Amino acid sequence: MFTIKETTADVLIALRWQVLRPGRPESTARFAEDEAEGSAHFAAIDASGCVIGCATVIEKEGRLQLRGMATAPEWQGKGVGRAVLEAVQVHANQRGLPLWCNARVSAMGFYEKSGWQTEGAIFDVPTVGPHVTMTWSG
Ligand SMILES: CC(C)(COP(=O)(O)OP(=O)(O)OC[C@H]1O[C@@H](n2cnc3c(N)ncnc32)[C@H](O)[C@@H]1OP(=O)(O)O)[C@@H](O)C(=O)NCCC(=O)NCCS
Repeated sequence: MFTIKETTADVLIALRWQVLRPGRPESTARFAEDEAEGSAHFAAIDASGCVIGCATVIEKEGRLQLRGMATAPEWQGKGVGRAVLEAVQVHANQRGLPLWCNARVSAMGFYEKSGWQTEGAIFDVPTVGPHVTMTWSG
């Protein structure tokens, strides 16, 4: 059992760091725009209050960039990521803004299952690996 809530960046940093930046400094799990106006943060919380899923959107040039999408390893494959992504999509609809992200190629299928589409060629992000731009417009 888990619930989804809108929250603050500080609540998400530990999970971002564990899943997306393992072995690197904690500062690499923080985004310059975390506290910016137009940014929003979403968490999945388990029955004991632990953060088990997270995602952030950052407003830029009339669109929302999705960043920091992660599910705790022991919860992956159980619908947490989809539920967090749905909350992000509802938020984007409420704001009337389209979504995009630079997705890890390894996670492309996850986004496609929620109706996201790839745009352009695969490119490399140093130290993280191959990525592709994906978009969602409801
Ligand atoms: C990618 C990630 C966020 C997905 O979250 P999750 O909680 O495991 O995903 P869900 O259980 O909600 O999966 C929803 C659907 O997507 C599918 N899916 C999940 N991860 C997938 C992947 N990497 N590739 C293809 N399909 C995937 C699931 O099988 C499920 O499909 P189904 O409904 O047909 O069974 C999570 O695996 C993760 O944190 N991975 C490591 C970090 C990462 O890559 N983050 C994304 C950076 S762009």
